[in-house]
Amino acid sequence: MSDTRIAEVEGADREEQLLRYRPAQRYIHLLVASSFTVLFLTGLPLIFEPLSFLAANGWSRIIHRIAAVAFMAVPFLYFLADRQGAKELIVESFQYDKDDRRWLLHMGKYFLGQAEGMPPQGRLNAGQKLHHLAVLILGAGVVFSGLVLWIWAGQLTDVQLSWAALVHNISMLGLVLLLIGHIYFTVLYKAINAMHTGYVPRTDAELEHAKWVAEMDALKAREPKLPPAEQGPTPGSPER
Ligand code: HEM
Repeated sequence: MSDTRIAEVEGADREEQLLRYRPAQRYIHLLVASSFTVLFLTGLPLIFEPLSFLAANGWSRIIHRIAAVAFMAVPFLYFLADRQGAKELIVESFQYDKDDRRWLLHMGKYFLGQAEGMPPQGRLNAGQKLHHLAVLILGAGVVFSGLVLWIWAGQLTDVQLSWAALVHNISMLGLVLLLIGHIYFTVLYKAINAMHTGYVPRTDAELEHAKWVAEMDALKAREPKLPPAEQGPTPGSPER
């Protein structure tokens, strides 16, 4: 992890901020969120009879396919735009330690908005790790069944088509439920600023991701101390 993940913006009236999401990560996330929302809105008229008039002119099908291409492009774009961030997201999402297991045992408290006293967490808490696993499984379900319905529909029997549609709809329902939970936590922990600006206040990060903050501090302490003339951006310049 690069030292540039830490940025200090210190001033009389500004609390120290830690860099959590680089610009590429934020734009990729915006693409996931917007393409998924369009997929949901243009998918509803295709399966929900009372809304079928919205699909009558065929535009919703075309927009649905364009959004599907954007949604499928996300993992590739993530690797192209920020290989390090994409790797970290995958590796960290699948590594659980004893604090994660303890966190999961107490997650009811976190669900109610109380992060104080929870077992210390890394950059991702155990709930986020489970969320990412579920997104991966259901995302794969929705993508593969969607490709079957799009590309091979003409070669499938009615029964096979029904199975593909069932997998597609159930995966989408699961993703929508996950999104409702994702937005619930975003609001509960006022996390939208992290995705909007890329930064989180140090005190919030210490409360929710204490091990991540300790890791960042240790990295910073190991940074070679350069003479002032050779130093990069001075504190107060939040760019990377
Ligand atoms: C549509 C509204 C959405 C909002 C408001 C939203 C909000 C957020 C926020 C605030 C974070 C940062 C959480 C933190 O670090 O504390 C985040 C991260 C994340 N969100 Fe969303 N999200 C949305 C849609 C989605 C969708 C549709 C997906 C997947 C299908 C998704 C997957 C993720 C993932 C994987 C991360 C971690 C990103 C990384 O570490 O690079 N989000 N989201």
